[in-house]
Amino acid sequence: MAKIALVTGGTRGIGEAISIGLKDMGYAVAANYGGNDEAARKFTDATGIPAYKFDVGDFESCTAAIGKIEQEVGPVDILVNNAGITRDGTMHRMTLEQWDAVIRTNLTSCFNCCRAVIEGMRERGFGRIVNIGSVNGQAGQYGQANYAAAKSGIHGFTKAVALEGANKGITVNAIAPGYIATDMVRAVPEKVLEKIVAQIPVGRLGEAEEIARAVLFLVADDAGFITGSTLSINGGQHMY
Ligand code: CAA
Repeated sequence: MAKIALVTGGTRGIGEAISIGLKDMGYAVAANYGGNDEAARKFTDATGIPAYKFDVGDFESCTAAIGKIEQEVGPVDILVNNAGITRDGTMHRMTLEQWDAVIRTNLTSCFNCCRAVIEGMRERGFGRIVNIGSVNGQAGQYGQANYAAAKSGIHGFTKAVALEGANKGITVNAIAPGYIATDMVRAVPEKVLEKIVAQIPVGRLGEAEEIARAVLFLVADDAGFITGSTLSINGGQHMY
C-alpha cells in the first residue's frame, strides 16, 4: 500500500510543488490549506489531490482534521510542515498581532501537526517528518523578527524531535529554503527584492520544485539514517 503524506500549506507555492512531487512518486497525498478556497479548488481539479481546510495554528482544529484525514486517506506516514505566512515590519513598528500570527502559524503549527501524528508513527515504527524552515531563520532578516524567530524555532524543534524519534524509525529533518519564486516572495517590495536577489550567488530566485526534490530525498524509505539535519537550499546566499 502507498505511504500516506500530509503537506500543510500544500495547495500553493512550495507546498503545491511538494504535494505534486510526492504524488508523482506514488505516495497518497493529502494537502492542507488555510484560507484560499479558490486556489485549493484549482489545485484539486488539476492534481486530484484532496485538500483539507483547517487552521494549522489551532491545536483542536489540527487534531480533528488530521483524525478525519486518517479515516479518509489512512494513517499519516509522512508529515511536511510547510504552512507559513509573513507579517513583515521592523521591530519598532511590529504589533503583537503580527508577532502572534507568525509564531502560531509558522511554529506552533509544527507542534500541533506533529502531536497529532507522532503516536501513530511510534506505534507503526515508521515516520518521516520534514519541517520547512528558512534562510531567514538561520541568518536573520531585516523586518522579520517574528518570522526569523519562528523559523529559527523550527530548526531547534527539528533536532529535539529527531532525538526522540531516532529509535522508533521516525526521522525528522528541516529544509531551509532561500528566496523562492512564490507569492510570498513576490509580495516583497520590488526595490527590496532586487537587493536580495543581488545577494544570491546563483543570481536568481529558486523554484518551488527545487525544494520539493529535497523533500522526496528526505522522506524516502532508504533515508532512515538522515535525521536531525538541516538542508540549506538558497543558491549560495547563506552557507551555514
Ligand atoms: N534586504 C536588504 N535591504 C532591505 C531589506 C532586505 N531584506 N528589507 C528592507 N531593506 C532596506 C530597504 O531597501 C530600504 O533601504 P533604503 O533606505 O536604502 O531605500 C530600508 O531597508 C528600509 O526599508 P523600507 O523603506 O522598505 O522600510 P519600511 O519601514 O517601509 O518597510 C519592511 C520595512 C516592511 C521590512 C519592508 O522593507 C519589507 O517588506 N522588506 C522585506 C523583508 C523581507 O525580506 N521579507 C522576506 C519575505 S519572503 C520570506 O520570508 C520567504 C523566506 O523564507 C525567504
